[in-house]
Amino acid sequence: MSKFNPADNIQDLQYFGEYGGVNPSITDSSTYTFLRAGTMEGVFEGEVEGCYLYSRHWNPTNRYLSMALAEMEGTESASVMASGMGAITSAIMQICSAGDAIVSSRTIYGGTYAFMKNYLPKFNINTTFVDTTNLEQVKAAITPNTKIIFCETISNPMLEVSDIAELSKIAKANNCQLIVDNTFSPMIFSPAKLGADIVVHSMTKFINGMSDCVAGTVCASHEFIDSLYDVNSGTAMLLGPVLDSFRSSSILKNLRTLHIRMK
Ligand SMILES: Cc1ncc(COP(=O)(O)O)c(C=O)c1O
Repeated sequence: MSKFNPADNIQDLQYFGEYGGVNPSITDSSTYTFLRAGTMEGVFEGEVEGCYLYSRHWNPTNRYLSMALAEMEGTESASVMASGMGAITSAIMQICSAGDAIVSSRTIYGGTYAFMKNYLPKFNINTTFVDTTNLEQVKAAITPNTKIIFCETISNPMLEVSDIAELSKIAKANNCQLIVDNTFSPMIFSPAKLGADIVVHSMTKFINGMSDCVAGTVCASHEFIDSLYDVNSGTAMLLGPVLDSFRSSSILKNLRTLHIRMK
């Protein structure tokens, strides 16, 4: 953990623009051509690198920002979304089916709380809210239907701090995914390094840091991020919370100074 340095990881990434610019070019296209028809099938299946299908699926500018965010959180992969709620709801809906359950911290951002309490029951997905700083309460709330344990690293608004490493052990022992919202502590806590399976952020807050846009991210394994963009079953692909590439480009530039702003 002490050797993990998110700021250096981000600075080490350098993508050049097509004319050697020090920032990558912004992709200003909703859709893409295929120089060879045979490539198309592989792109649909997510098996071809460097080719793009449609900007709701992936676009090069969102890919650059996602790669930087994966470096920041120490995850294999990441994706960017049009809001923090877009990131949280996509991750949850990708994992849960009707009949599944969630154990969540009782002190979380109000929008996430409302989504779990009022919206998910429409799909027969029910949430038990507990004090996640009390590991016995978490264990007691888990049932065979529980698929997710959810908490915020530093909770909004109560600033509660849960033990991510211990929650991760409980999640693994019960076949659940631990989702941690790290909005309040990018570069301060690295939940994936402590065992979280999925790290989400509202980039609207510290990561962008300029109060000029709304955006979110999901950082996780290649397998999970690819599943979000599966053309047949991916929540992000099918519900469409895509971030505009101009915004991705400006957030990537702001991300490079995040370590200074978080001091
Ligand atoms: C901890 C946390 N998570 C998620 C969100 C939702 O993010 P957004 O407003 O970008 O959708 C917020 C918003 O305040 C938040 O504070």
